[in-house]
Order: sequence, then structure tokens, then C-alpha cells
Amino acid sequence: MNDWSDVAPVDSLPEGGHIVADLDGIPVAVFKLGGEFYAIEDACTHDGAEIASGRLEGDELTCPRHGARFCLRTGKVLSPPAYEDLTCFPVRVADGMIQIRDARWD
Ligand code: FES
Repeated sequence: MNDWSDVAPVDSLPEGGHIVADLDGIPVAVFKLGGEFYAIEDACTHDGAEIASGRLEGDELTCPRHGARFCLRTGKVLSPPAYEDLTCFPVRVADGMIQIRDARWD
């Protein structure tokens, strides 16, 4: 079973950029950082705000709503007011496409 979903052509995402995709109703933000791709649920664990438009410094992503910080590579929460990690999703490149899948129930 192929449960990977296409997000965008690999060449369409510049370094430091992101794109938000719908993965079976879940907003997933895919970032390109250091030549690698990282996918997180586009929902802050503090109060559910979209987080993809937050400030990205190195691999630290700051929620634009109340300023919680997270590690983009691991999803780990780094500062309040959030206390739970972001949900991360597997990412791969296949046939020139960035792909993600929902592995939460594996
Ligand atoms: S919703 Fe992100 S810090 Fe409050």
C-alpha cells in the first residue's frame, strides 16, 4: 500500500521556505532546512494556532501567536507557553516529489 502523499515538486521549495499541505484533513507544514525536509503539524500545541508562518531562526520556530518556541527538526518544545511537542511526520523525496505520510498510528 502506498500511503505517501505528494506535497510539491522538490525544486519548488527554496531553502528556509515552507509549504502547507492537507494530509487527510490535517494541515502539515513542510520546511526545507539545511537541504533536508521536515514536516510538522501546522498547529501550535499551546492553543492550536497555525505555526508555519512563525519566525524561523536556525532550526527554532517561534509561534506567531504567543511566542512558544519549538525545534523544527524534532518537534521538541523549547519554551512556554507551550509544554507539548509538535507532531512530526515522515518526509521523503520520490520521483522528484516531496512526499509525507501519517505515521501516527503505525
Ligand atoms: S498558540 Fe502558539 S504560543 Fe500560543
